[in-house]
Amino acid sequence: MPNVLVTGAQWGDEGKGKIVDHLAARADLSVRFGGGANAGHTLVVGGKKIVLHLVPAGILHPRCKGLVGNGCVIDPASFVKEIAELRAADIEVSEKRLSISDRCHVVTTFQKISDGITGKAIGTTGRGIGPAYTDKVRRAGVRLADVLEGTHLPLLAAQREHYAKLHVGTDLPSEKAVADELAAVVRELAPYIGDVAEETHRAMKDNRAILFEGAQGALLDVDHGTYPFVTSSTTTAGGASSGVGVYVDLHKRVAVLKAYTTRVGNGPFPTELFDETGEKIRAIGHEFGATTGRPRRCGWLDLPALRHAFRLNGVTDMAITKLDVLAGFDTIRVATEHRAGTPVYRDFEGFGSLEGITARDALPAAVTKYLAFLEAELDAKVSILSLGPDRDRTLVFREILGA
Ligand code: GDP
Ligand code: IMO
Ligand code: MG
Repeated sequence: MPNVLVTGAQWGDEGKGKIVDHLAARADLSVRFGGGANAGHTLVVGGKKIVLHLVPAGILHPRCKGLVGNGCVIDPASFVKEIAELRAADIEVSEKRLSISDRCHVVTTFQKISDGITGKAIGTTGRGIGPAYTDKVRRAGVRLADVLEGTHLPLLAAQREHYAKLHVGTDLPSEKAVADELAAVVRELAPYIGDVAEETHRAMKDNRAILFEGAQGALLDVDHGTYPFVTSSTTTAGGASSGVGVYVDLHKRVAVLKAYTTRVGNGPFPTELFDETGEKIRAIGHEFGATTGRPRRCGWLDLPALRHAFRLNGVTDMAITKLDVLAGFDTIRVATEHRAGTPVYRDFEGFGSLEGITARDALPAAVTKYLAFLEAELDAKVSILSLGPDRDRTLVFREILGA
């Protein structure tokens, strides 16, 4: 059974959650290996919307168990809230259906306060992600295991001292208050906390179908994205092994990309549209962040940026989402290169409504031409075409996971 990576090829929000949910019907595990509650994955099932941040998106399928690997940072209170929301939507959540690595670093109140102050220039999600990874790397983090063992108070005292120096004049709660709150909420999560590396390893030995669920996107990768306007983790294929704790041979690497480009937060975006076309994409595509509600910046597809993302991830399959959003546009543009920093576009003929289309051969000729161009330019096949947020608006051209 294959190990399948599902990863964002742009600046996040490509529709990874929807694609993971689609594939999870045939998967045994859905594993997050990086990021935290900065992610926001919206799933729509029978018209009902579910937003996930750190709980793996495969969990909606009874066959699929969600694992949260050591590469993730966890805000325990936000995680408990997510579990409660899933239960309210009648999704069973138990330790049989969800595990979290005891090596995950905890996002603390101090880190969230700090992100609120220092994250503005980048336009972070304010979830404490940057400071949590920074503290992990400077060996001053708190892991779930520390909280379980009750050794977290001195670690939090040192963190408080650090942030008090960094943000002179900012009110910080006492380390005792933060430690007690953390202990109480981690107690609730205790049944889920375990050895995710071992569980993944065992599943591989047992020939299980495993999805490695990327968060964010290639252009937000801390090493390979539009630094410094990036997140603080490895979002690409290379992060799967270290973020889970077992060598992962990714047999299929699925790049999820929108038929256009969006970005939330600051930083370069060469194909960004500042005119009414950009506004039209935002309005029709409901391009507002699932985590922060911020309007997403919108623009055309950018082939040089995608080539970079595809090389990073060794992409074998494409899942193209939100093509329906472009229906009715006279012209669809794709940047084929950048000359002196300015995109050079190739224009494609528009197409009409894609409603009701459920098969590849029923697609308008203009769509077929557009997809064939992308396949040739990016040297990967379109395996999934998504034409709407709901599960049933998913066209499968090539199966990624067998039955
Ligand atoms: P993720 O972070 O990559 O999982 O993506 P988000 O969930 O943040 O953003 C994608 C948004 O587009 C969500 O609201 C989805 O419900 C929606 N969506 C996904 N695929 C499609 C599609 O093919 N067409 C349309 N119109 N919406 C889609
Ligand atoms: P999903 O998984 C889109 C962006 C933020 C900001 C930068 C750094 O839903 O695709 P951070 O809070 O991580 O320190 O913010 O990264 N960002 C995302 N943008 N989708 C995401 O996740 C994102 N996660 C982080 O907007 O520009
Ligand atoms: Mg998102």
